[in-house]
Amino acid sequence: MAYENLLVEKKDGVAIVTVNRPDKLNALNGRTIEELDAAFSALASDPEVRGVVVTGAGEKAFVAGADIEELSGLDAEAGRALSERGQRVFDRIEWLGKPVVAAVGGFALGGGCELALACHVRVASENASLGTPEVKLGLLCGYGGTQRLPRLVGRGAALEILLTGERVKAAEALRLGLVNRVVAREDLLAQAEALLRQMIANGPLALRATLEAVHGGLDRPLGEAQAGEAQLFGELCGTRDAREGTRAFLEKRAPRFEGR
Ligand code: COA
Repeated sequence: MAYENLLVEKKDGVAIVTVNRPDKLNALNGRTIEELDAAFSALASDPEVRGVVVTGAGEKAFVAGADIEELSGLDAEAGRALSERGQRVFDRIEWLGKPVVAAVGGFALGGGCELALACHVRVASENASLGTPEVKLGLLCGYGGTQRLPRLVGRGAALEILLTGERVKAAEALRLGLVNRVVAREDLLAQAEALLRQMIANGPLALRATLEAVHGGLDRPLGEAQAGEAQLFGELCGTRDAREGTRAFLEKRAPRFEGR
């Protein structure tokens, strides 16, 4: 599929997905959401891709939110449909089964903050700021943000961000655990990619299972979630990758994972 508002570049196992509407600070209009859906659907089944970096075009913004032009004038039914659509697309990113790192350079607001939250790990530039200003528009953040933010930073910190709508600067975001690392703007993409490459050097089935254990487990009672963990652990033990990984350690050599 040819994209109007996305760039997708693949190199050595990594896909870089760039939201590309810099004139509108990469705001997510309906078309961009559709394109993210199509792109992540393709990346999920692309055997060449072992991990993804998501970023925004230009110096100023990661993504400055859903497109406010499209939000004004929605009725209740259309608003609910828009929210559910965005939630499904961001769920697809979270459940990709391969690590996804957000490279947040500049504003990550509203839907942009929610996009970063749907990624597994966030690397921010020193000039980044994150927040959920929807309340200033008389709205709430409806692409999973009211649920993912408290799960990431805790209820109190999340409610302060969600209820004030104020922006959180990179250093404070780091302190809260809203982002994992803060780096110089010029190093952002390279650092995000390097972190991703550290992850994808590991067994792909182990990464997939770890993502599933964490995301599938966090919303379930501990006992049930641990039963899921044991199930996944067992499944991994039956793979060639686990035999190769353990044998390589004992033979003091680097493992050669095949993803089976
Ligand atoms: N939706 C639609 N357009 C947006 C947008 C959004 N979420 N965020 C920025 N833009 C557009 C602006 O309208 C402007 O377009 P124009 O040049 O055609 O007028 C362009 O992007 C540049 O933005 P501008 O506001 O001029 O940049 P700034 O540096 O003065 O301010 C922000 C940057 C991020 C503080 C400001 O754009 C902003 O508050 N954006 C909205 C953030 C928001 O509420 N997001 C949640 C939406 S649900």
